[in-house]
Amino acid sequence: MPSTPPLLLRCPVCGGPLYGSENPGASRGALVCGAGHSFDAARQGYYNLLVGKGTVFEADSAEMVASRFNFLDAGHYRPLAEAVAGTIARMVTPRGEFTVLDSGTGTGQYLRVVLDEVRRTTERCTAVALDISKFALRRAARINPEALCLVCDVWQPLPLADAAVDAVMVIFAPRNAAEFARVLRPRGRLVVVTPRAGHLAAVAESTGMLSIEDDKDTRLAGALAAHFVPDSAQDIDIRMMLTPAQIADLAFMGPAGHHLDRAALASGLGAGDAAAAVDAMFRITVFRLATDAS
Ligand SMILES: C[S@@+](CC[C@H](N)C(=O)[O-])C[C@H]1O[C@@H](n2cnc3c(N)ncnc32)[C@H](O)[C@@H]1O
Ligand SMILES: [Zn+2]
Repeated sequence: MPSTPPLLLRCPVCGGPLYGSENPGASRGALVCGAGHSFDAARQGYYNLLVGKGTVFEADSAEMVASRFNFLDAGHYRPLAEAVAGTIARMVTPRGEFTVLDSGTGTGQYLRVVLDEVRRTTERCTAVALDISKFALRRAARINPEALCLVCDVWQPLPLADAAVDAVMVIFAPRNAAEFARVLRPRGRLVVVTPRAGHLAAVAESTGMLSIEDDKDTRLAGALAAHFVPDSAQDIDIRMMLTPAQIADLAFMGPAGHHLDRAALASGLGAGDAAAAVDAMFRITVFRLATDAS
């Protein structure tokens, strides 16, 4: 059972504080608010906090999530995960309390690496993982049993209290700047991972992936500017040797997976184990709140 510190969660119906209830016999209790709104844990351990109609969206399918899990599990992006973990762990005070939100956590594999790193400095860490795809959260909940895994829409008010979080991490996922600013503590940090121009260029065309534009950085800072200012940035380049099956997973795990047929994609890439060089090019940008003068 993940701990649910009082005053961290907010009821998505009425906005009141949401608490973990003890539920004898069950591995995880429901989340309940003072007005009686109650959210049961799914068998896999996550909570569905989606209410109302919400945003029209196309959640990642089980097949896309499986492709992402397999690709990340093979360790191709491990240097990125370690760099994000190092960035966040440097924000932690030894033995201090620390709360991290992974927004658009997907399969939760980056969060796992982050939590393992943070735990080297403090055991008093609370993690919240949110995503709109229950297929993704099933996996995230399994590998991060200590985290609160919440199905919710990042474009709706987040089910978190004001100024409750030390770090928000967003890896290739949508960014709701106003809500991230609201839930961050005054000295908190937003950690954003984006692709740089040239990312996966060798396979973008043959797999129907969008190529990355040069001005992405300027656009990122512009989109967040009302609430955040860039603090620091680190570039991570990874040269990968990928088989056709791995390239198919790579293409299918991203937005292109919504409009590609995986079988057709895989057969178009050819069979066999001949590996091709593919360069992944990322930027980790750390933002502080515009109201933080430090
Ligand atoms: C490209 S994936 C990245 C996942 C993970 N951070 C990673 O890098 O492996 C984008 C994620 O954002 C989630 N997502 C998309 N729209 C969302 C929304 N409106 N609210 C919450 N999550 C959303 C998707 O379900 C998906 O898991
Ligand atoms: Zn309520």
